[in-house]
Amino acid sequence: MKPIKVGLLGVGTVGAGTFNVLQRNQEEIRRRAGRGIEITMVAARNLDKARAVVGAGVEVTGDPFAVVNNPDIDIVVELIGGYELPRSLVLQAIANGKHVVTANKALLALHGNEIFAAAQDKGVTVAFEAAVAGGVPIIKALREGLTANRIASVAGIINGTTNFILSEMREKGLDFATVLKQAQELGYAEADPTFDIEGVDAAHKLTIMSAIAFGIPVQFDKAYIEGISQLQARDIRYAEQLGYRIKLLGITRRTQTESGEGIELRVHPTLIPASRLIANVEGAMNAVLVQADAVGASLYYGKGAGAEPTASSVIADLVDVTRLATVDPYCRVPHLAFQPNQMTDVAIVPMAEITTSYYLRVYVKDQLGVMADLTRILADAGISIDAVLQKEPGNQVNLDIIMLTHQTREKNIDAAIAKIETLPAVIGKVTRIRLETLS
Ligand code: NDP
Ligand code: HSE
Repeated sequence: MKPIKVGLLGVGTVGAGTFNVLQRNQEEIRRRAGRGIEITMVAARNLDKARAVVGAGVEVTGDPFAVVNNPDIDIVVELIGGYELPRSLVLQAIANGKHVVTANKALLALHGNEIFAAAQDKGVTVAFEAAVAGGVPIIKALREGLTANRIASVAGIINGTTNFILSEMREKGLDFATVLKQAQELGYAEADPTFDIEGVDAAHKLTIMSAIAFGIPVQFDKAYIEGISQLQARDIRYAEQLGYRIKLLGITRRTQTESGEGIELRVHPTLIPASRLIANVEGAMNAVLVQADAVGASLYYGKGAGAEPTASSVIADLVDVTRLATVDPYCRVPHLAFQPNQMTDVAIVPMAEITTSYYLRVYVKDQLGVMADLTRILADAGISIDAVLQKEPGNQVNLDIIMLTHQTREKNIDAAIAKIETLPAVIGKVTRIRLETLS
């Protein structure tokens, strides 16, 4: 059988990684795919840089639409990143009847519904294993491996950059800016690293997993997003003393609210018991914990970013698409696991309705009765306290009071925090970090 022809858009970290792994393992990959997979044309901005990667035998162009409109190309691999240009390129590739592989979670979180509908109409596949958790085959697991299950929740460390930053800060005491620079040099960070730090990249990935796990449309605009930029070193330390690690966690789960069934979709720093496997995921590693009714808990772990780990997923998609290229479109696995006409519209619940536990740090003047005031406010709101820690951060006059609560609705804790902040002994804002036992 003739090799399948691939056009590559973007020869950066992942593009170059994909080209190199495909070259290195081409014989092994051909034996698996049933035919050769050849990158015959690439688009890049810096043509010399691209030529240095792909060599003389591959056509290099500065115009990505030349790739997408080339009738000889069977599969387009989009590794440029961003929203608008990739959206136009991917929709054009689909309109031209080409299959698409992309690692672009931003694109799919925002335009996935449109792109999957266009692909469905045209009978082509859009594959995106690399878009979530880099080299970890979590899309395959959620969409195919767990297909027998009713999935209850998906919780994951799905941004390598922030996990790397948190690990290096905790283990080596390095400062935020230094570690971020290292993450950029190692090729982990997004072109705009605020996407990593502010939790946007994790929310893109979580949105995609949520759609696949629950059979709902991708709804990035409904995700609650809080990053790690406001996290303080002393909270990481106090959490440690209480037996927890702080991770940037993406959580999506079925939940019951006062108005019926809903789905939580949220990314924020989270205390996790240090004894949990997922709490010990360090550096740029990713891990996703899935709770499902038949299989129970399963954990997926591996490199979440970087050239070759991500290339591993891009090429897995290329092999899948190659194997299925000649199959009737209706026999292929649906993009979001559920048949397109079987998606549901269960609502994403507003943050005020979610239920979780909390770490609260209140900075107070060391006055008689302050602890009693705090506990009374929480008791009045129906919030019970699990643990209390009292610390003197550097001076003898003021105190950090740290309280861990049992589960309550977010709106209850919001109301309690508002009252606490009016106490005369309380200095500044209350620090609130959500806590998940993941049991
Ligand atoms: P890079 O910035 O390293 O690479 C992007 C490439 O696209 C660059 O080589 C750039 O060219 C090229 N490019 C930009 N604009 C154009 C254009 N108009 N025409 C042609 N080429 C263009 O990004 P990454 O490889 O890190 O990321 C690519 C995608 O993969 C993103 O969607 C990212 O979110 C995703 N991803 C990245 C991971 C990682 O670990 N890095 C992991 C998982 C997903 P030039 O070099 O000339 O500027
Ligand atoms: N910037 C992303 C991360 C790349 O750090 O996880 C992988 O998607």
